[in-house]
Amino acid sequence: MSNATEVKSPNTESKTAHLTLPDGQSLELPVVVGSENEHAIDIAALRGSTGHITIDPAYGNTGACSSDITYIDGDKGILRYRGYPIEQLAEHSSYAEVAYLLIWGELPTADELSHFRWLLTENEMLHEGLRNAFEGFPPYGHPMAILSAMINASACYHPDMMQLEDDEHMPLAAAKLISKVRTIAAFSYKKSIGQPMRYPNPNLSYCANFLHMMFSIPYARYEPEPEVIRALSLFLILHADHEQNCSTSTVRMVGSSRANLSASVASGVCALWGPLHGGANMAVIKMLEQIQQTGMPVSEYVEKVKKRELKLMGFGHRVYKNFDPRAKILKKAADDLLSTLGISDPKLDIAKELEEAALTDEYFVERKLYPNVDFYSGIILNAIGIPTNMFTVMFAIGRMPGWIAHWYEAFKESGRICRPRQVYTGPNVRDYPAAK
Ligand code: SDX
Repeated sequence: MSNATEVKSPNTESKTAHLTLPDGQSLELPVVVGSENEHAIDIAALRGSTGHITIDPAYGNTGACSSDITYIDGDKGILRYRGYPIEQLAEHSSYAEVAYLLIWGELPTADELSHFRWLLTENEMLHEGLRNAFEGFPPYGHPMAILSAMINASACYHPDMMQLEDDEHMPLAAAKLISKVRTIAAFSYKKSIGQPMRYPNPNLSYCANFLHMMFSIPYARYEPEPEVIRALSLFLILHADHEQNCSTSTVRMVGSSRANLSASVASGVCALWGPLHGGANMAVIKMLEQIQQTGMPVSEYVEKVKKRELKLMGFGHRVYKNFDPRAKILKKAADDLLSTLGISDPKLDIAKELEEAALTDEYFVERKLYPNVDFYSGIILNAIGIPTNMFTVMFAIGRMPGWIAHWYEAFKESGRICRPRQVYTGPNVRDYPAAK
C-alpha cells in the first residue's frame, strides 16, 4: 500500500511553477495538468522544503485530489459523468446504469446491467431487526437523522460492509447501500404518517419500487404514472454525483481513515443536510411557500435579498458561474410533469418569476448567481407527492452512487489519511497561575 497519494497528471508535458518566498527561499513546484487542461500546482513538497504551508479557508482554490469520475466546467455550465454529458445521460440513461457508470467507470453491458439490477433487487429488504429499529424513532424524527443512523445501523447486520478489502466485494456492498437507502427512506416516511411499512416488490424497477414503498397502502391498488417514475429517475440521475462537493469530500475524508463504506456515506448524509448544501432544496420550497402565502411581490423579496436580509435559496454555486445544467433540465422536467399531471403549482410560477428577476438584476449578474440544482427540484418532488422534509433524503438517495464511487476511487489509491494543517492564531505560551 503506497504512502503518498500520487497526483495524476494525464498530460505528460512537464510544467513548473517558481515560488520565491519573503525570506529569499525559492522553490520549483510541479504543475499537474488534468485531462480537461485544468492546471494545479502540486505543493506536496512545500512544507518539507520551506517550512511554509498554504491556507485556503473553504478550499475555494484547493484541489483535494485528482479524480476520474466527474468533470464540471463552472464557467461553461458543463457537467459530465465519466465523460458522458449530463444532458445525454438525463435523456437516454437510467439511474441503475448511471450508478454503475459512476462506480466502475464504464457503461455496463446488457448482462452487467441486468446483474447489477438483480443485486439491487436481491438487497432491497432490511433485516427485520433493522425494521424494528424504526420503533425507536419518534414519528416526527427528522428523516435525515434517521437515514444517517440507519445506514450505520445497517452495517451492524451486514458486517461484510465493514471488511471491504477488494474489488470482489464492491458490487454487493454498493448494491446494498443503493438499494437499502431507498427502503430506509420509505420506511421512515410510513412511520412518520402512521401507515404500515410496505415491503419492497421485487417485480418493480428501482424508482417504481420506491414509489410503491412510499405511497401504496394495503387495501388499495397503487400504480404511479410512467411520467412520475421517469421524473423520479431523472431527479436521481441529476443528483448522482458532482465531484468534490461538501458531502462527497466528507465521504472521502472519512474514508481516508479507513473507516468502512457505510460509516463514510453516513457522514456524507450529515454533511448534505446543511441548508447551504443539500438542505437547500427544502429551503427553496419554504421560500416559495412564504412568498406565495404572504403575497409578497417577487420584486420585494429580491430587494430583501439585495439588502442581505435573506438569501435567494437555490441560487448561486461555488463552481458554476453560469447556469447549472441540472437546473435547466429540472426546470423543463417540472414544466412537463405538472402539465402531464394537470397540476397547476403557483410555486413554479413564482420560481420562474424569481429567476427572471434575478437574471436581469445587476446584483445577481455581477456575482454570477444562477439557479442551481436545488431551485426547481422541489417542484418535481412536490408533484410526485414527496413531503418537503424528505427532499434532502431524496438528494441523498440520488447521491449515493457518487459517494460510493469517490470512496472506492480513494480506497483503491490507498492514499494517506487526510489531515489538513492550520495557522495557529491563539495565545502564545503562558504559565498556569500559581495557587493564590
Ligand atoms: C448544492 O458544491 C456542489 O457541487 C454542491 C451541489 C452538489 O450537487 O453537490 O451542487 C449541491 O449544494 C447546490 C447549492 C445549494 N445551496 C443553496 O442554494 C444555498 C444558497 N446559495 C448560497 O448559500 C451560495 O451560493 C453557496 C453556498 C451555494 C455558494 O457559496 P460560496 O461559493 O461560498 O459563495 P459566497 O457565499 O462567497 O457568495 C459570493 C457572493 C456573496 O456576495 P458578496 O459578499 O461578495 O457581496 O454572492 C452572494 C454572497 O452574499 N451570494 C448570494 C447567494 N449566494 C451567494 N446572495 C444571495 N443569495 C444567494 N443564494
